[in-house]
Amino acid sequence: MTSRLAIVTGASGGLGPAIGRRIAEDFETVLLTDVREDRLGEIAEHIERDSCARVLTAGCDVSDEEQVASVYRVAAQEGAISGLVNAAGIGMFTPLTEIDQQLWDRVFAINTRGTFLMSQHFIRTAQPPASIVNISSIGARAGNDMLAHYGASKAAVIEFSHAVARGCARTGIRSNTVMPGFIYTDMWRNTVAYLQQNDEALAAISAEEVFAGIVDQSIPMGRPQEPEDIAEAVAFFLSDRAKNITGQTLAVDGGAVLT
Ligand SMILES: NC(=O)c1ccc[n+]([C@@H]2O[C@H](COP(=O)([O-])OP(=O)(O)OC[C@H]3O[C@@H](n4cnc5c(N)ncnc54)[C@H](O)[C@@H]3O)[C@@H](O)[C@H]2O)c1
Repeated sequence: MTSRLAIVTGASGGLGPAIGRRIAEDFETVLLTDVREDRLGEIAEHIERDSCARVLTAGCDVSDEEQVASVYRVAAQEGAISGLVNAAGIGMFTPLTEIDQQLWDRVFAINTRGTFLMSQHFIRTAQPPASIVNISSIGARAGNDMLAHYGASKAAVIEFSHAVARGCARTGIRSNTVMPGFIYTDMWRNTVAYLQQNDEALAAISAEEVFAGIVDQSIPMGRPQEPEDIAEAVAFFLSDRAKNITGQTLAVDGGAVLT
């Protein structure tokens, strides 16, 4: 039997390694990709040591179609392409009136165009049954004026996933979305640093206390999410256990957004 292969984008980040590790339990081959290549080898080595999967790596800027095509050329030689996790993304707090066109376009190029390019190449090359999982954000539903660019780009991902789900429904390719809540990765570390630079009261306490305060205010269950919580939802959507589920969005956020 040909080995089933899944691709993870954004695999050097805070969520990517946990996603790669979890899905290595279910796929024979996992291909970790990220624009930042320096950590990929070490992450792959750790996952491979703890699982039966073969873990490969490739540098890829998801906003660049040539690099995306190149990843799929590699993947097609290594296994039956059957899973894709679109986790690459950028986000930062920016006041609504300070978002310039360049920043708006960069956020959309990575979060939205990247998801589109990776998914389109997946649809062309996947060997069904196959499944795409997009990582959106509760920022897509929050109406947060500090995240207008990010929230809009992540809302677009949800609707794109709907279109893929309907368009591919008879082909054996499913598409679903996970909306993570608050996980203390670099994305949040940078956000907390920004908030502390702009607020003396926040600057007087530790970054961890600032984050804990935001979580307490925003999450009904009163606790942050862990990368493993997101990885579990991703693994479910990729698996045959979700064989009748497509076009859905699952918030893993302690009750912050009710869908
Ligand atoms: N951390 C959270 O609380 C949170 C909440 C909601 C949604 N998310 C989403 O989850 C995903 C992962 O976030 P994270 O917390 O791990 O963030 P992170 O910043 O730790 O990781 C993001 C990864 O994406 C990579 N990346 C950036 N631009 C890229 C590009 N052009 N091509 C390929 N890779 C690129 C980065 O190098 C990084 O490794 C993102 O899409 C993010 O929007 C995160």
